[in-house]
Amino acid sequence: MEKFFINGHSPLKGEVNISGAKNAAVAIIPAAILSDGVCQIENIPNINDVTLMAHILEQIGAKVKMINKSTFEIDTRYINSYVSSSDSVRHMRASCYLLGALLGRFHKASVSLPGGCDFGVRPIDQHLKGFSSLGATYSIEGGLVNVSAERLVGSSVYMDVVSVGATINIILAAVKAEGTTIIENAAKEPHIVDLANFLNSMGAEISGAGTDSIKIKGVSYLSGTKYSIIPDQIEAGTYMIATAATRGDVLIKNVIPKHLEAITAKLQEIGVHVEEFDDALRVFSDGALRKCNVKTMPHPGFPTDMQPQITALLSIANGTSIINENVWDNRFRYTDELNRFGCKISVDGKVAVVEGVSALTGTSVRALDLRAGAAMVIAGLAAYGTTVIEDVKHIERGYENIVEKLSALGADIKKVYVPDDASVLKAL
Ligand code: EPZ
Repeated sequence: MEKFFINGHSPLKGEVNISGAKNAAVAIIPAAILSDGVCQIENIPNINDVTLMAHILEQIGAKVKMINKSTFEIDTRYINSYVSSSDSVRHMRASCYLLGALLGRFHKASVSLPGGCDFGVRPIDQHLKGFSSLGATYSIEGGLVNVSAERLVGSSVYMDVVSVGATINIILAAVKAEGTTIIENAAKEPHIVDLANFLNSMGAEISGAGTDSIKIKGVSYLSGTKYSIIPDQIEAGTYMIATAATRGDVLIKNVIPKHLEAITAKLQEIGVHVEEFDDALRVFSDGALRKCNVKTMPHPGFPTDMQPQITALLSIANGTSIINENVWDNRFRYTDELNRFGCKISVDGKVAVVEGVSALTGTSVRALDLRAGAAMVIAGLAAYGTTVIEDVKHIERGYENIVEKLSALGADIKKVYVPDDASVLKAL
């Protein structure tokens, strides 16, 4: 088992480059299924979720060539199957985008029910509602979601909940449908805009992405394209908070400051300095950290994917902060792990009460999921002494070269292979 060892309590200092956005990449790679040409996609983060998504495309006949470490050339012209049901598919939430993409291309798709981070029920009813509005029928049998349509015809879809995944899937299914589709109450996350820009660069006619009403005029042909993915908002936010938690001073480069406004505003409320440049932010923290209340919301609200990280920071702020999780039902399980550092966090349903403490002490913890794992790294960097984090595979799903990037900022962090009990016993 691989673990992170962190000797904490030294300030992060220097510059860090933010990679391409995971959640844009895992939507744009399957969106290439809809192309009638070859797509060259740049600024792809080198993380496990992306490798898995590329592999899933190869399994159904796509050719994915790595041009360099952050550029893929994807040729989906010879895809020969609308069925995607491997173990890889089951392990990844974003594999549900194959439903929209394959439906859009073949008018048929059979894809395993998706897995992903576990923070409560993760339904796909809004995805299916969207497909039905376009004329598709569906069934769920033996762990497979089957959708099919004689014809896909544009229509009006009102989403009952703001869902990133459903918005993306409906765009994918509608982009080559007959006529016009309008998605009302659509999600507005930056990666939805990025997906629409990618599809438009191939000749799609999508307008309104980034607002709650997206209009998609169906087209019959999408050319190949060359496209560069936006920087990762959540990776940037994680480095902002890690800097604040260690009382550091870091220039966070290759970001879109507008995407980080909600995080910047909260950090300033906490007493952290944030200076904005065209495509960089300088974050530094030298005074007291103040309590603040946080409510997670769909974009442009405070992102749920930053909730564990800001909870870790508020654990060492003066006073008591209240965190309301408004997106997921069960996203506070990691607080038991944070409490091992000496944090004082109590949870009641979707509300956490964080009583600030003066210092944290290193300990052994688990990364329960991707962002929970990021919170453990932040707490470990801020804590006195040594922290050991298990299950770092979750962290590596979404953070490119996190050990190298933090080390370059002066952190004492190492990834170490530690044989687990089972492999030690086997070797005896
Ligand atoms: C995306 O998940 C992200 N994943 C998640 O990031 C992120 O937490 C989430 O959006 C919210 O921002 C990817 O982009 C790959 P949703 P998604 O559909 O699309 C309910 C990370 O750490 N809902 O917007 O699965 C649902 O239960 C990951 O990078 C329905 O009720 O999230 C939830 O309460 C973790 N019916 C809310 O909507 C549906 O059909 C938002 O879910 C779909 C969703």
